[in-house]
Amino acid sequence: MKDSSRTVRWGILGTARIAEKISIAIHQAENAELTCIASRDSQRAVDWAQKHHVKRSVGSYEALLADSEIDAVYIPLPPSLHGEWTVRAARAGKHVLCEKPLALNVNQAREMRRVCLENQVQLMDGVMWYHHPRAREILQKIRSDALGEHRRFTSAFTICWDNIPENDLRLQRDLGGGSLGDLGWYCIGATLWAFNELPQKVFGTSRSYEDNDVDYNFSGTMWFSKDRIASFDCGFDVCMRKWFEIAGTKASLVCDDFTRPWDNGRPKFHINDDQGNSIKYETEDPLQETCMINHFCDIIRSGRLEQQWSDLGINTQRVLNAIDYSARTEQVVNLADFFPQ
Ligand SMILES: NC(=O)c1ccc[n+]([C@@H]2O[C@H](COP(=O)([O-])OP(=O)(O)OC[C@H]3O[C@@H](n4cnc5c(N)ncnc54)[C@H](OP(=O)(O)O)[C@@H]3O)[C@@H](O)[C@H]2O)c1
Repeated sequence: MKDSSRTVRWGILGTARIAEKISIAIHQAENAELTCIASRDSQRAVDWAQKHHVKRSVGSYEALLADSEIDAVYIPLPPSLHGEWTVRAARAGKHVLCEKPLALNVNQAREMRRVCLENQVQLMDGVMWYHHPRAREILQKIRSDALGEHRRFTSAFTICWDNIPENDLRLQRDLGGGSLGDLGWYCIGATLWAFNELPQKVFGTSRSYEDNDVDYNFSGTMWFSKDRIASFDCGFDVCMRKWFEIAGTKASLVCDDFTRPWDNGRPKFHINDDQGNSIKYETEDPLQETCMINHFCDIIRSGRLEQQWSDLGINTQRVLNAIDYSARTEQVVNLADFFPQ
């Protein structure tokens, strides 16, 4: 039985597929309760509420934001709507967990952060793996001397388009689709998280559908200080891959499935040295979406907002836009010239 004086009351904007996973996480989390679902279609909201055990349903996003019994909203809308609904939610005094990509461009993302700060509400993007205990253990290894001096970060996140439904938002430019925002967001975010710094310059190259200018694959390179280089590829045209490697002068750390463990019950990573030795680390195995919801609710209950999450989201957005611009103009882009603060 949850202690209702300690729970964060959640509302969800839109009956998105990903909202099903998050509804399970909110039900599982000790410090959260799922109070309301909003849909553009009131019958859809009613049906969804029944199926996913939500107390209330409403037929518009506005009605949910007007509900004084909601503390936090989860926004799994198409990317083109993230900016508008985050700002409206923050002005209504709601904390915001907004899906990735956070916005369509860095100026919009900064405005989202500004309004959230002004209204003293948390802003975080919906990347789950950062909040899993495995990420903490990996970060400890990275920050220790285990790998020596860091030199490379390499990552990939791909899915095969046979798995993407027709008319999906990922394939529509006006909804903010494209593989860079959908999948590259994770690779760029992981790179910034590991190196804890912005790149100095970036280069990207992509392939797009001819009729709608949506990239279906993307490869990028990012140059960092101290001789560090990162590269990634993402796309809808290759089988599922979701790995990263950070390599240093002594050893490399490989996580085969950083965005979500292949087997939720066995999260793991490896450190490989240059003698052929490989050490496998297994970590605790809570569901990562529940870890994210727990963490978000802990922040709200503590009353101390964590700016680092919106900063990571905005930095990811800035690099993403710079590398997209690079691909479109076929030139290396200096980040200092690209939407400086
Ligand atoms: N963090 C993760 O692991 C993860 C995983 C998957 C997706 N995502 C992100 O979550 C978001 C949603 O992805 P999804 O695949 O779950 O989306 P989806 O199933 O297509 O759902 C999007 C929802 O947005 C609402 N919506 C409002 N205006 C819309 C419009 N013009 N066109 C389409 N839908 C509209 C709809 O809800 P109503 O009709 O009920 O209002 C719809 O159900 C995206 O930003 C995506 O990148 C994150």
